[in-house]
Amino acid sequence: MYGMINEAMRRLVTETSGEQVWSRIAARADTTEHFAMLHYYDDAITYDLVAAASIELEIPADDLLRGFGHYWSMRVGPENYRDILGATGTDVISVLTNLDEMHARIQDLYPDLRPPSFEVHAVDGSGIEVHYRSVREGLAPFVVGLLEGLGDLYGTPAVVTQVSQKTAAQPYDVFHVGLGT
Ligand code: HEM
Repeated sequence: MYGMINEAMRRLVTETSGEQVWSRIAARADTTEHFAMLHYYDDAITYDLVAAASIELEIPADDLLRGFGHYWSMRVGPENYRDILGATGTDVISVLTNLDEMHARIQDLYPDLRPPSFEVHAVDGSGIEVHYRSVREGLAPFVVGLLEGLGDLYGTPAVVTQVSQKTAAQPYDVFHVGLGT
């Protein structure tokens, strides 16, 4: 994935646990400590960093991914990509509805991008159903955190439940997102 993803992880860990902890995580993952935002790194580096952080911080990898998703929506998106996010939408549903278009638009800047794909299905008054497609495995907890973070960002706390996991017959994960006010 692009270095901006690993850099955002570095920022989260250094903010919450300090630079020394990040140094240990990078050493354990056998990577550099810093990443060039516009350089494409092998996905294995990102997964190795999560696995190393899980050991160093003694937190399950899925919990870390969920926390990282929340941090991305609440901090990285609004602070580093304010204009892009603002042009995508102004609430959870509009952002998710326009997200594929947004990831496609940034492909000019990130030509090797392999973005995810999101579909929003209106369910009923209790919330929406979100279909998430990716060429990658194991990122569902990251998506849960991203969705929860968007809920908090827009003042409509989201209760996110994974309804089903992708299979050969259904090539996407399904999440129910209950949106409060
Ligand atoms: C705010 C601006 C955003 C920017 C600039 C951005 C950009 C990116 C980039 C560069 C990647 C790495 C993909 C790759 O290197 O191949 C990525 C991955 C991803 N993005 Fe975004 N993104 C943004 C917001 C969001 C939001 C709001 C969501 C969901 C609610 C989201 C969902 C994802 C997911 C799940 C991935 C992981 C890749 C995968 O699932 O295969 N992004 N994004």
